[in-house]
Amino acid sequence: MAHPTLFITGGAGFIGSALIRLLIAESDWRIVNIDKLTYAGNLESLSSVANDPRYVFRQIDICDRPALDALFAEFQPTGVIHLAAESHVDRSIHGPGDFIQTNITGTFALLEAARGYWMSLDDTAKAGFRFHHVSTDEVYGSLGDTGLFTETTAYQPNSPYSASKAASDHLVRAWHHTYGFPVVTTNCSNNYGPCQFPEKLIPLMIHNAVSGKPLPIYGKGDNIRDWLYVDDHARALRLVFEQGKLGEVYNIGGHNEKTNLEVVDTLCALLDELKPRADGKPYRELKTYVADRPGHDKRYAIDATKIGAELAWTPQENFETGLRKTVQWYLDNTEWVAHVVSGEYRNWMDTNYGART
Ligand code: NAD
Ligand code: DAU
Repeated sequence: MAHPTLFITGGAGFIGSALIRLLIAESDWRIVNIDKLTYAGNLESLSSVANDPRYVFRQIDICDRPALDALFAEFQPTGVIHLAAESHVDRSIHGPGDFIQTNITGTFALLEAARGYWMSLDDTAKAGFRFHHVSTDEVYGSLGDTGLFTETTAYQPNSPYSASKAASDHLVRAWHHTYGFPVVTTNCSNNYGPCQFPEKLIPLMIHNAVSGKPLPIYGKGDNIRDWLYVDDHARALRLVFEQGKLGEVYNIGGHNEKTNLEVVDTLCALLDELKPRADGKPYRELKTYVADRPGHDKRYAIDATKIGAELAWTPQENFETGLRKTVQWYLDNTEWVAHVVSGEYRNWMDTNYGART
């Protein structure tokens, strides 16, 4: 029996690869992974599904409209989950150009390719099609000591990254309002878990700690993030894609608010237990306070009532269980980390499956 086809953009990234692993294991979808393979794209994160007959990879830039049009014509998908993006706030501060290009222009090209394909469908196929845009809580700006981001919180993005994501959210919303294009959007809090590029706080701290390097804490370390284990996000994405109401926005978050210092201290304590330093000293001695991130948002916290009430989603991991799993994964997968650090991950597909033509 033919499997319905789902396009996933950015599937070689941290969250996209978790979502593809989940969908190959637990659903019937045939997945077409559309990824440019920037520095953040790592096919090694998909080694467990690479040979599955329901998995297809295409190295394509989402800004490349002709390539996207050809792909829609070839695979006739039932839907798209759009994760491809430049995702790192610090990189957006140092070089915003790629963020504007991929997150805004790329989302525009993808929306237009998807809309053109959707308009060509017969009424039944048209009614079954949907486009799921994956976004971030950072579009809402920064909270004070109290309050939570809800789906109706006004947008107030503060970094080039969050401004580019906010722009893409607005395009998606407008495509629904103007053209009746069938969309759903999710805005999620900070993810952590296996296969996250070690530029983000948690994998960076684990990698630096086990390498005996300083643990750089921006400012006083009192900024707050709301942490969610990546597989819980992937489960939420599947639910929203399959059952969410068209035109709606769903916030996703784990009710795990922590200061950055709390995160780093918890990581250090876990590493003291799971991989004690050779000299017996505690990892927390590696903590180093460095200059703050410009425009650093103070606090993020998600109100996830809507997705809980309407789609019965609830996270399976709390911060303690999720963080322990994450640290253990990085300790058990030193080869994945070593390949990222050495740059070898960029050749992973050629090495394992022969050079691409
Ligand atoms: P990531 O940086 O790990 O992965 C991004 C992927 O997109 C990479 O595989 C990269 O190669 C690909 N990509 C980048 N530019 C592309 C282009 N022009 N064409 C095709 N592919 C391209 O990102 P992530 O952390 O997995 O985030 C995925 C999505 O989820 C992003 O849209 C991000 O804004 C959103 N998000 C992330 C978090 C988080 O905590 N990481 C939280 C909420 C929302
Ligand atoms: O909230 C969702 C967002 O979370 C996503 O949209 C982004 O794609 C994702 O990168 C993440 O953004 P943050 O900026 O919150 O994540 P990052 O891991 O870069 O930083 C987390 C916090 O830790 C932040 O307050 C900055 C701080 N930090 C970060 C690094 C890399 C440090 O103190 N030291 C560091 O070395």
